[in-house]
Amino acid sequence: MTNQRTEQTRDTAKRAATYLWWQRGIIYQVYPRSFMDSNGDGVGDLTGLISRLDYLRWLGVDAVWISPIYPSPMKDFGYDVADYTAIHRLFGTFADFDRLIREAHARDLKVILDFVPNHSSDQHPWFVESRSSRDNPKRHWYIWRGPGAGGGPPNNWLSCFGGSAWEYDAHTGQYYYHAFLREQPDLNWRNPEVVEEMLNVLRFWLERGVDGFRVDVLWHLIEDDQFRDNPPNPSWREGSDPYQKLIPLYTTDQSEVHAVIARMRHLVDQYQDRVLIGEIYLPVERLVQYYGADLGGVHLPFNFQLLLTKWQARDIARIIGEYEAALPERGWPNWVLGNHDRPRIASRVGPAQARLAAMLLLTLRGTPTLYYGDEIGMHDMEIPPEKVQDPFEKNVPGRGLGRDPQRTPMQWSAAKHAGFTDGEPWLPIAEDYNRVNVEVERDDPASMLTLYNQLIKVRRGEPALEVGRFEPLEADGNLLTYVRRDRESAFLVALNLKLQPQVVNFSNKVPEGRIALSTYLDRSKERLRGNLHLRPEEGLLVRLTE
Ligand code: GLC
Repeated sequence: MTNQRTEQTRDTAKRAATYLWWQRGIIYQVYPRSFMDSNGDGVGDLTGLISRLDYLRWLGVDAVWISPIYPSPMKDFGYDVADYTAIHRLFGTFADFDRLIREAHARDLKVILDFVPNHSSDQHPWFVESRSSRDNPKRHWYIWRGPGAGGGPPNNWLSCFGGSAWEYDAHTGQYYYHAFLREQPDLNWRNPEVVEEMLNVLRFWLERGVDGFRVDVLWHLIEDDQFRDNPPNPSWREGSDPYQKLIPLYTTDQSEVHAVIARMRHLVDQYQDRVLIGEIYLPVERLVQYYGADLGGVHLPFNFQLLLTKWQARDIARIIGEYEAALPERGWPNWVLGNHDRPRIASRVGPAQARLAAMLLLTLRGTPTLYYGDEIGMHDMEIPPEKVQDPFEKNVPGRGLGRDPQRTPMQWSAAKHAGFTDGEPWLPIAEDYNRVNVEVERDDPASMLTLYNQLIKVRRGEPALEVGRFEPLEADGNLLTYVRRDRESAFLVALNLKLQPQVVNFSNKVPEGRIALSTYLDRSKERLRGNLHLRPEEGLLVRLTE
């Protein structure tokens, strides 16, 4: 090796070491009910997940975030926790959990748990106590209020799942607040005892070896202490999501939440190399506040812009620009393409554009989060009314708000029930599972899965793509172009969102390079000569040589 090469290698290795796994790596969300069932009850479990870790390793992701696996009456499929420090028997035992951690770590995969601090289940012993009498010591662990002036609820606050956020408790003559289902009473984070106890919960799992937490509805944790009415939302339209009728001015994003988050962060920082991720749906300028003063907030406030944007190159360019501009110095960016609450990308933008979305997600600056099944192109499945499971759909039916369509079982093979279970799956399996599944797609050189696998391969260990700068390039119409650059390498990304071919004209000198990947998966190694010709809905990743 020449001296120069040795220097370069040392340089790259040094730089890699200065970034943490959650900065360079890729996060993969598993909705455990739907990932892999090992015991034939039709619901996925931890043993099933363990049996698929080799697949995740092969795919090339670095961390698995698992939606809640705690004991729960399952009114909101685990987001109603009845015991924060145990495992639901549906998913397995502590022995299975410890094995998951061991087996994941043996494969160099991190494990991120879902922490649900805003509310517990109404079956949680804390709430059972809290509602038992007005002077119970746990009364103020939840949010209780007497009726409003004219009788009825204390104020106009709405539940995200439809109807009032207040539920009357006849036994004690007061109402309790629930931002979600009535079976999900909100914990009172203004009470220091709650804070301490919930920090103990984090400690419990950190000691057990988890690598971090995705914190559920973090911007909801605290409400106005004067209980003021939320103002009406002038842009709300009849027939749309009833929760949007009011602006949640006094129920979300209260400034006091940041002190609570700082406590969580302080605790997590006592352990090595762990990550805190916050679920926060807010406009970018509010979102970035969750990095915290002096960056003592969450490491990654989830950036959901890609889930919400219009799928047009100029809109996407705009959200990238706004996000990059809003990030605090040393705030690490991240991007999310799908989750268990939102329509799947393949349904939202169509299968061809979903390939562009994959290239976008894996080449933007910041930690990418993928949602299980998106890597094989799973789509939202229409669920017949008698099979609906999601309480949101049951409460507010027929408005397209239900989340079952994006939670159908993972499609592993063309075998019965897509290889997900030997029993009756808890949600129906999408009709295309014969074609759209891991086994078939792994052997297909042009499949969505091959595209994801290749993209991840190109990205891995490539400082320009993992941690390099982001440089937007000017483009018109439905074309999105940018460069990712590090000291010794650079990549050009060109995404043609149009249904027609397009040429990328370089205003200055035409760069030199070789195509690393086309979303069509048929042009790698081709040399870049002159302007770049893109086919309809084609994305190109080009390794620049100068
Ligand atoms: C989060 C979860 C969602 C759940 C809600 C209430 O938004 O992602 O699935 O229903 O919180 O816990």
